[in-house]
Amino acid sequence: DNHQWIAPKATDVRSPCPGLNTLANHGYLPRDGRNISIPMMVQAALDGFNVGVDAILQAAKFGLLSTDDLMTLNLDALKLHNLIEHDASLSRNDLAVTGDNLHFNETIFTTLANSNPGVDYYDPTSAGQVQHDRLAISLATNPNITNTAKEFIVRTRESSFYLSVMGNPLTGVAPKQFVNIFFREERLPIAEGWKKSTTVITGEILNPIMDVIIDNSNWTMTQLCEDLVLGP
Ligand code: HEM
Ligand code: MG
Repeated sequence: DNHQWIAPKATDVRSPCPGLNTLANHGYLPRDGRNISIPMMVQAALDGFNVGVDAILQAAKFGLLSTDDLMTLNLDALKLHNLIEHDASLSRNDLAVTGDNLHFNETIFTTLANSNPGVDYYDPTSAGQVQHDRLAISLATNPNITNTAKEFIVRTRESSFYLSVMGNPLTGVAPKQFVNIFFREERLPIAEGWKKSTTVITGEILNPIMDVIIDNSNWTMTQLCEDLVLGP
């Protein structure tokens, strides 16, 4: 097997995560999207994106709760609402609005695609504004919305992922063309000039990008959640 992009077959399964789907479409994860363990996700994130283990381990561990299997998951299980999957996504609809929180939706993606007008890149400031605007749409259209600190942290981490994986992980400046291909085709834009980060994208690298996103998202909770315990 090589790492060419191949569109999923009808029998393959995919997730609400453009990152994992891209890794599967390039064969860093099993192309059928099935029987994926945490070590497989960790290795694929490094090989495909140079994303470090510490940046995905919590998500990967939570992810296993989406299934009754002991050690692995199938990508489609990750659509389980309010485990990791949340409302006000960048590229998927809210579960309560259409019943489909799994598949890419161009209408939803319009907010991100139209952001940072006049320049050819997205950055942490524009990403914060996009988070604000996507949440405003969900608050207005989804009577069942969940919007606690948990969702906000997850959404902010995801925004920092598209900026750093598709752009410069030190500045969070990412070419629009690369980000759009990543979301729309779940493809690494290698032919367009994208190169994997030479820096390992760790939590420490993502934190300053997340801080700028937070500052520009003008976020307020609409529900409380319990304090999150994410590690020792
Ligand atoms: C969502 C990137 C790893 C589970 C997202 C989103 C991005 C992203 C940009 C937001 C999609 C949107 O808002 O429409 C990445 C990257 C990863 C990665 C670059 C690096 C390997 C993981 C891992 C898991 C995971 C390890 C868990 C096993 C999810 C889920 C969503 C998601 C369930 C859907 C959340 C939602 O929008 O409702 N990811 N991700 N991701 N990711 Fe990942
Ligand atoms: Mg969602």
